[in-house]
Amino acid sequence: MDRDQQKLFLFLVFLGSVLEFAESGFNAVYLKQTNATLTCGNPPEEFFETQQGFISSIDRVPFTCNASDPARAYPPENMVDGLLGTHWQSSAGEDLAFITISFEQAFFAQHINITFGNYRRPGAIKVEKSTDFGATFTPWHYLVTSPARRQCSVQFGVDAFQGLISRVDQVLCTEYIRYVPPEYNETISIELNQKQRGDGSQDSYTPGLQHHYTVREIEVTGRCDCKGHADGNHCPLNQGFRACQCEGNTCGVHCDECCPIYNQFPWKIGNGAPWTNDPAAKCEQGNITGL
Ligand SMILES: *[C@@H]1O[C@H](CO)[C@@H](O)[C@H](O)[C@H]1NC(C)=O
Ligand SMILES: *[C@@H]1O[C@H](CO)[C@@H](O)[C@H](O)[C@H]1NC(C)=O
Ligand SMILES: *[C@@H]1O[C@H](CO)[C@@H](O)[C@H](O)[C@H]1NC(C)=O
Ligand SMILES: *[C@@H]1O[C@H](CO)[C@@H](O)[C@H](O)[C@H]1NC(C)=O
Ligand SMILES: *[C@@H]1O[C@H](CO)[C@@H](O)[C@H](O)[C@H]1NC(C)=O
Repeated sequence: MDRDQQKLFLFLVFLGSVLEFAESGFNAVYLKQTNATLTCGNPPEEFFETQQGFISSIDRVPFTCNASDPARAYPPENMVDGLLGTHWQSSAGEDLAFITISFEQAFFAQHINITFGNYRRPGAIKVEKSTDFGATFTPWHYLVTSPARRQCSVQFGVDAFQGLISRVDQVLCTEYIRYVPPEYNETISIELNQKQRGDGSQDSYTPGLQHHYTVREIEVTGRCDCKGHADGNHCPLNQGFRACQCEGNTCGVHCDECCPIYNQFPWKIGNGAPWTNDPAAKCEQGNITGL
């Protein structure tokens, strides 16, 4: 197969924040609204999994993707349900798929992990982000099959990443770390804004019923911005929204104001911002008058 015509897979993410290093955190896309183009099953279609390529054609029985049959449907929400046993699947024979996930609020993000299903990973992935709920997108990361120098240019018209990262928000084009793609259940991790290394991969593809994408799970490790007045690592999901658990008499989703009556001094950002609470920056109760 011509290397220049590899399968492409476009993955779009909505985001509303600057990006920074976060060592640990929560899965910021868990149960978030997720759409995908090219979901299989409407109309119903038959498919083979990659491993069935090793079975003789007489013994090979196809599976069915049927959007009207819950037991045989593979909808986009399966990618963010926290379950590896469920997956999204694209229609056969399509090269370009878009997945869109809405974060619904701003997060700091560290890495994106994608676990594929019983089909090989795509030839290339582009990750984009939007801070205006999908009106405009900017590139976030490019991931290509080896050799990156050529594939970054051919697939996306950008230079392959070389040398050192100069800015935390630098957009990189890198190769898949694993050179040979596993036949099933591969997990890839895209490190956002961190030093990358990679040795690439060659994507051999089988035409026909085996040519589709499957994604079991997408996870984006994120943290909340709590302005140095709470632990951004643990801001629990409450009715679909995450808010900081503010300390030091601060209030607001991001602890960015003093709570009522704690107005002795103006609010200030904590030294541990954005991840950890800084007690020295707490808000103090105002002067008690009338005594
Ligand atoms: C798809 O599922 C619907 C609902 O169960 C069923 O009526 C229909 O026959 C199925 N189509 C195929 C091709 O299996
Ligand atoms: C792939 O992962 C799924 C979900 O964890 C599992 O059920 C399945 O057995 C795995 N496939 C293989 C071939 O190991
Ligand atoms: C998904 O599609 C629905 C219906 O077109 C739309 O209202 C919604 O904004 C989309 N969500 C995302 C995350 O793209
Ligand atoms: C995501 O990938 C990173 C880097 O490979 C790994 O350390 C982390 O454990 C992965 N997270 C999950 C939930 O698989
Ligand atoms: C409280 O009293 C101090 C000392 O008189 C004064 O400097 C400060 O501005 C007062 N704070 C408020 C919120 O009134």
